[in-house]
Amino acid sequence: MDKPSRRNVLMAGGTLGALGALSVATPAKASPLWTWSPKGSVAGYGEGADPRWVWDDEADQLVASIIDRGDVAKVNTLLKTWTKNGQSLPSGLPADLRDFMERARQMPSWTDQGKLATAVNFNEKRGLYLGVTYGFASGMMSTAIPHEARAVYYSKGGADMRDRITKTAKLGYDIGTSNAYKSDGEMIVTCVKTRLAHAGVRHLLPKSSYWTKVADEKVPISQADMMVTWHSLPTTVMQNLVKWKVPIPAAESEAFLHSWQVCAHMLGIRDEYIPKSWDEANAQAKQVLDPILAPTPEGIKLADILLNLASFVDGGILSKPILGALSRYVLGDEIADYMKVPRDPFWDPIFETAWEPFVQVREGLLSLEKAPGALQKAYWAFDEILRLGILLVLSGGDLPISISIPDTNNPH
Ligand code: HEM
Repeated sequence: MDKPSRRNVLMAGGTLGALGALSVATPAKASPLWTWSPKGSVAGYGEGADPRWVWDDEADQLVASIIDRGDVAKVNTLLKTWTKNGQSLPSGLPADLRDFMERARQMPSWTDQGKLATAVNFNEKRGLYLGVTYGFASGMMSTAIPHEARAVYYSKGGADMRDRITKTAKLGYDIGTSNAYKSDGEMIVTCVKTRLAHAGVRHLLPKSSYWTKVADEKVPISQADMMVTWHSLPTTVMQNLVKWKVPIPAAESEAFLHSWQVCAHMLGIRDEYIPKSWDEANAQAKQVLDPILAPTPEGIKLADILLNLASFVDGGILSKPILGALSRYVLGDEIADYMKVPRDPFWDPIFETAWEPFVQVREGLLSLEKAPGALQKAYWAFDEILRLGILLVLSGGDLPISISIPDTNNPH
């Protein structure tokens, strides 16, 4: 076991947070029909095309051609030097890619800078809970999203999960920074690079014999898949905060949603699929996310990696059962059982009875003396979890992470 150090713990945090946007695959549960109306979207109108059959045409063709003409290594080297939103694109990029990226880096016309500023307040005030929910609600949930899990497992990044998780965590970190979308921030760069990486995966994964054997789609990462994963992030996070009765002013809740709406647009999701309000988001998630959650061999392996991430700190003696119980508590028994999260007779009931009172006590809404007895025993452990959450949120910042276009699949 490595000696725990601040750096190690931060790295573990990054790894956990990264899982937030990962998914795991499962045997087929047919994806539900798309009946969600574009009237509920930020665009307010649209063709209503079923997003299971829509990808990201321009980016996909462009990146496919970059891969096929052997330009990936050169492009990735240049992209490493592009890190800040306000920075000019590196010279030497192929003209077609440069032209696309200049357009892709533009914020949508409906961006509300006031809301983005309010989102910063929210992220600062609620960073503790956000780290925990991104890591263990979104992260664990992602292991139960079959399309994402399979794509992650069989793509290049699947060969080194720790590295991949750290890279994915960068997006969760960047969106919470105070200058996320400002010229000295990095969120726009992260989104544009991720959009290119996804386009690369769409070109490469259909050539993987491992992926094609298990996949129930011809091309991965459709716009429907994108929205499913998006819901595993902000929608799931907000649903948990509401469930825990964390007091959140309406303006902050809306602002948090807005920062993720902008993210969705920057990742190449069409405006007609991006929900305009939490009501619309919850309705869409109910239709597209809830019914597809299911176990897959790939997802079960990813869930196990996630639960073991903090093990180098304590050999897993405490961290594994506590993180398992937290995952079970946020995901519910059905999904936790799917993902083979071990039951823990000590910690499971403590989360059930004491987590909400713990949040209430922290928020000054309940006095510790009036809280259930279980909380007196568990307070220190819950506090530790929040500290881990903060590390999750902070950990992306000092890592030299460069998201790149893949040039191959997981060789297996
Ligand atoms: C790559 C985030 C949706 C599969 C990435 C990366 C980020 C990211 C930050 C770069 C990390 C890296 O290079 O390893 C997101 C977000 C999503 C989303 C925020 C939705 C809002 C999806 C979906 C799938 C998917 C729906 C599959 C169904 C992948 C794969 C990679 C990737 C396979 C590349 C891994 C590699 O080959 O290195 N994503 N993603 N993502 N994502 Fe996503």
